[in-house]
Amino acid sequence: MLLPKTLASRCTLTAALVLASAFRLQAAPVSPEDGPVRLGSNENAFGFTPKAEAAVIKAIKMGNYYNRDAVDEMVKLCAAREGVPENFILPTAGSGPVLLMTAAAFSKPGVNVVNCAPGYPQLTGAFTSYGGNIKYVYVNEKGGADFKAMLRAIDENTTIAYVCNPNNPTGVIADPKELQQFIMAVPERVIVFVDEAYLELSDAGIKASTVTPLVKLRKNLIVSHTFSKAFGMAGFRAGYGVAQPELLEKLKKYYQGPPSFIAAIAAQEALKGKRSTWT
Ligand SMILES: Cc1ncc(COP(=O)(O)O)c(C=O)c1O
Repeated sequence: MLLPKTLASRCTLTAALVLASAFRLQAAPVSPEDGPVRLGSNENAFGFTPKAEAAVIKAIKMGNYYNRDAVDEMVKLCAAREGVPENFILPTAGSGPVLLMTAAAFSKPGVNVVNCAPGYPQLTGAFTSYGGNIKYVYVNEKGGADFKAMLRAIDENTTIAYVCNPNNPTGVIADPKELQQFIMAVPERVIVFVDEAYLELSDAGIKASTVTPLVKLRKNLIVSHTFSKAFGMAGFRAGYGVAQPELLEKLKKYYQGPPSFIAAIAAQEALKGKRSTWT
């Protein structure tokens, strides 16, 4: 289903996500000039910044070189943004690969992942493809994660508890304290994966809600961030995971590589902008 751009621009994240899931929107090739947008793909209809555009156009002439420094520079900026050492950052082509690597590393027949219902299915779908099961926990009456029920659902075979914050497709953000308590209560043998793909778009503000400060405390916590949503760079494919280096080593066995240098240049510009810090 396609909606006119003017209507789309008035939709809140929640409305967009609910519409997207309710109508199973078709992915059609639509450019910003065409008017309609694809809400089902959750893309930012406003695009990326003019500074990022200028940097990418300038960089395009360097496409015949590997340009690995661009990714290193992106990692530096990501680490500064998150307040962690550089070896806590794993740069990827969008954040999806972080979800997929985690599923690959921690799934096998007989184990399970705990997820909200309804919830975002990328990690859990991959998890089942490696033989694991999904344990669904219904969202609470507000449409947010029910952390008490999620804790109860974790059993001796659980390897991952996945939290999407704000939750896709309900768009509801978790109470920061409740989420922090949940993370601290999950046994350290279970990976807690917090997908913050939409956090920059939340009214509460990312600083109040991001759980990246907890990665230094919890060896079982992974947080994923993307440049696809608020930064409007879905097509470039840039994102990253944040976790302790020992945990990232387990994911790296399934690593498909970093973003391209053009994507890294675009991401760098995003991180140099005003939205790049939590303050
Ligand atoms: C909640 C959530 N997490 C992760 C992703 C992966 O997106 P990307 O790989 O573009 O970062 C998506 C994409 O729609 C998403 O909705």
